[in-house]
Amino acid sequence: MSDKVVLAYSGGVDTSVAIRWIKEKYNLDVIAVTIDVGNERDFSTIRQKALDVGAIKALVIDAKDSYVDEYVFPALQADALYEGEYPLATALSRPLMAKLLVDAAQQEGATVVAHGCTGKGNDQVRFEVSINALAPDLNIIAPAREWGMTREQTIDYAQRYGIPLPITAASPYSIDESLWGKSIECGVLEDPWVEPPEEVFTWTKSANKAPDKPDYVEIGFEKGIPVAIDGQELDGVGLIQRLNELAGGHGIGRIDHVENRLVGIKSREIYEAPAATVLLQAHQALEALTLSKAQLRFKQRVAQEYADLIYNGLWFTALRQDLAAYVQCSQRFVTGVVRLKLFKGSSTVVGRKSPFSLYSYGLATYDKADQFDQSASAGFIHIWGLSARTQAQMQPRGEAED
Ligand code: ARG
Repeated sequence: MSDKVVLAYSGGVDTSVAIRWIKEKYNLDVIAVTIDVGNERDFSTIRQKALDVGAIKALVIDAKDSYVDEYVFPALQADALYEGEYPLATALSRPLMAKLLVDAAQQEGATVVAHGCTGKGNDQVRFEVSINALAPDLNIIAPAREWGMTREQTIDYAQRYGIPLPITAASPYSIDESLWGKSIECGVLEDPWVEPPEEVFTWTKSANKAPDKPDYVEIGFEKGIPVAIDGQELDGVGLIQRLNELAGGHGIGRIDHVENRLVGIKSREIYEAPAATVLLQAHQALEALTLSKAQLRFKQRVAQEYADLIYNGLWFTALRQDLAAYVQCSQRFVTGVVRLKLFKGSSTVVGRKSPFSLYSYGLATYDKADQFDQSASAGFIHIWGLSARTQAQMQPRGEAED
């Protein structure tokens, strides 16, 4: 009996060819594992295809709830946005997939895990670093990185072995989807000067075609987690699906990012992430109301570090855990409701409220309800400006001289 390998199987050409190629090259029996993170595919067809192509077993795992509760929402609480632009949908799904692959390998008695990533991207790093961290004894193979076939050669290989190819003309784009967002790469998008053709967008309407009337949406948060839309409680998956539709219908969530990959390549990426865009915006608005200035300043630094850790495949590390604990703690009063206006490609926060709001009307108002002691400001400014005044007296300001 051959040893077994668990393969992360998407149903695409590369991973289908991999089933056959692994058998031929390594003489391993392939168990295909397909993971549903909300990519809306026909999973029973994908499963059958794996078996038809030669997998000895094919599993489909519904991981939508874990994806949202254990990966997406902690990242939302952290306000994680890679390089200020990318909400990290793919990057958040990979450690979860790695974990499920490791679990499957252990259950099935497999000694090897395989994935279909090429050698140029971030995903290979995320899979392998995560698998190594969770199960250092498992071996990893990456067929698409090893076989050295061009796209055409891969298709020839598929035809030679009767591996079914998609009937439709292959899309020139490389697409990855999960509930938190869709990424689109390749084809004309590889020229960063070229505007993305309308056809690449499937989750979002063009702003031109979006309704002429705005929609308002109220998002309820409990300790930094979104729990309700317009007063109606929803589970995480349902809430994200609903917002993807609602905000996508208004053309919200298109992102065009020239991104720095971990392997040193700059890459032009198009994303559609309507729910992520709206939720990140709403969450930050609620934090602005409920966290102190010092907390907000510090948390921004954590957000950047956290986003980098996710992007760079370091989910299963001690530092990520440490930061997650800080983020979690920081959310204890981030409870309340944010009201947004969705209109013609953009969402705008137009209202926010919280039982723990630090906003004080009595301090902010210029009306007669004013409670702020303006006379105290003079003394405050005298001390605050002391060092600037001293320096100005001793060291005339002016152009720096050599
Ligand atoms: N650039 C994004 C990232 O690194 C998206 C990657 C999409 N992955 C893919 N296999 N098509 O997270």
